[in-house]
Amino acid sequence: MSVIVWWLVTVVLVAVHSASARVVELDWEVEYKFWWPDCKEGIVMAINDQFPGPTIDAVAGDIVIIHLTNKLSTEGVVIHWHGIRQRGTPWSDGAAGVTQCPINPGETFTYNFTVDKPGTHFYHGHYGMQRSAGLYGMMIVRAPKEKLRYDGEFNLLLSDWWHQSTHSQELALSSSPMRWIGEPQSLLINGRGQFNCSQAAYLSNEGKRQCTFRKNDQCAPETLRVRPNKVYRLRIASTTALASLNLAVEGHKLEVVEADGNYVKPFTVDDIDIYSGETYSVLLRTHSSPTKKHFISVGVRGRKPNTTQALTVLSYVDAPESARPTIPPPVTPRWDDYNRSISFSNKFFAAKEYPPPPEKSDEQLYLLNTQNLIDGHTKWAINNVSLSVTATPYIGAIRYGLSSLSYLKSPAKELVESYDITKPPVNPTTTKSSGIYKFPMGIVVDVVLQNANVLKGKISEIHPWHLHGHDFWVLGYGDGKFRPGVDEKKYNLKNPPLRNTVALYPFGWTALRFVTDNPGVWFFHCHIEPHLHMGMGVVFAEGVDRIAKMDIPDEVLGCGLTRKWLMNRGRH
Ligand code: C2O
Ligand code: CU
Repeated sequence: MSVIVWWLVTVVLVAVHSASARVVELDWEVEYKFWWPDCKEGIVMAINDQFPGPTIDAVAGDIVIIHLTNKLSTEGVVIHWHGIRQRGTPWSDGAAGVTQCPINPGETFTYNFTVDKPGTHFYHGHYGMQRSAGLYGMMIVRAPKEKLRYDGEFNLLLSDWWHQSTHSQELALSSSPMRWIGEPQSLLINGRGQFNCSQAAYLSNEGKRQCTFRKNDQCAPETLRVRPNKVYRLRIASTTALASLNLAVEGHKLEVVEADGNYVKPFTVDDIDIYSGETYSVLLRTHSSPTKKHFISVGVRGRKPNTTQALTVLSYVDAPESARPTIPPPVTPRWDDYNRSISFSNKFFAAKEYPPPPEKSDEQLYLLNTQNLIDGHTKWAINNVSLSVTATPYIGAIRYGLSSLSYLKSPAKELVESYDITKPPVNPTTTKSSGIYKFPMGIVVDVVLQNANVLKGKISEIHPWHLHGHDFWVLGYGDGKFRPGVDEKKYNLKNPPLRNTVALYPFGWTALRFVTDNPGVWFFHCHIEPHLHMGMGVVFAEGVDRIAKMDIPDEVLGCGLTRKWLMNRGRH
């Protein structure tokens, strides 16, 4: 039997100079635990005995300090604060091999950063496939003065769950031939799902058994209790390893007001699509007749689903405890109706207070998304390079001018021009590289993500791309191959939405723009865990000369060649 772990969560409120700036200080321990996320026993990565991890609740301007202790017995760990730009603290970004060394078993590492603007965010493991293993939680940054009006709020953290362990998944993926992990067994809402029963079985003839939950069941859904004639803010985040999702609340419309921590021009829909790495806030207006219960459903889109919808219940306060929803859960839109997905993406515009992006870009980077082979091993690659992050964190290699670093040539326009995206690759052989891209400070960069066909069959996959350290403007989406000189003319330069994650649709392209105003080393990758794990990412070094002068804490760099560097100078 393991000892009971006593843990302490401290939220220290310290009055700093300005009236509102506080310090949110937390002690966290990461450990594997037996858990029943979907009514079947599995192993999760828990923080302070909780799964999902504790919700961070801060106010814009706060300093967040997290002392993270690794209680895993044989593997390192890091946590990435997804959506936080880490201005001035790029070493706190929590990307293993990019901004820090994995924290060793038994060691404690302190993350220290400022949450500079309001938004709905989350955090997650960023080493190996630890996000898939359940290392995640919500992170809310409130506005000192919120412009949105609402009476209450709920968090919905969405994820997908496999019964096969992530260690076994990792091995399967890197085997030759690759063994694909398949579709998830369950979808989870706030870490809760039902694999072998259905909450709505009494309404349908799916042949599934009706769930009977006991108190404290780890898979029992959380009920959202609401009052009539009120407005609720649902803060929704997807940290799925694979699944693209759609969320709907039976009988209620959703007004989308925030995306990835940025306000958008409000629009109303019946349901929302959400890709891994994205967050939304939607406002839900409750009815005036207050006695019902309604299903909230989350289903799979973008891949042929083989996973039942996740359900939870919206319950009006006057509904009797024993009552059940009387109307079946909303039906998830057809998984391969990509026009519907794209038209949802095209509804996003920045809220009116945001200034437009710079009119022109200084550099254009084309990133061709493919599936390839290295010695018979299946990989995902960008511009025919499958990323393999080095043991020496890039930020340290740049800081200390180490020769382990190589830079990739930027524009790959010719590659895209001559590539047939409608067929499996003619020459599927790719190379593994740890090379990265570099940008000077203060320039405007356009990235064109170009999708293509996979290795076999006529298939092109969705890839949700996430950039660390930045928000970017989404300038446009298009079908087929990007046409330089033509497609730029269709960019939205008036009010494009600011985001940190954007979908690349099958056989299409997506264009985005950002300004290099944040010196650091930033991961830019597909947020699908197995794709990233198998090489689908790039790294941007921004302001290399600035990084070389940064005062990076030694604790970040105790591995690979940077460890040697510190040792030779008597610093470790
Ligand atoms: Cu949420 Cu690098 O990812
Ligand atoms: Cu992908």
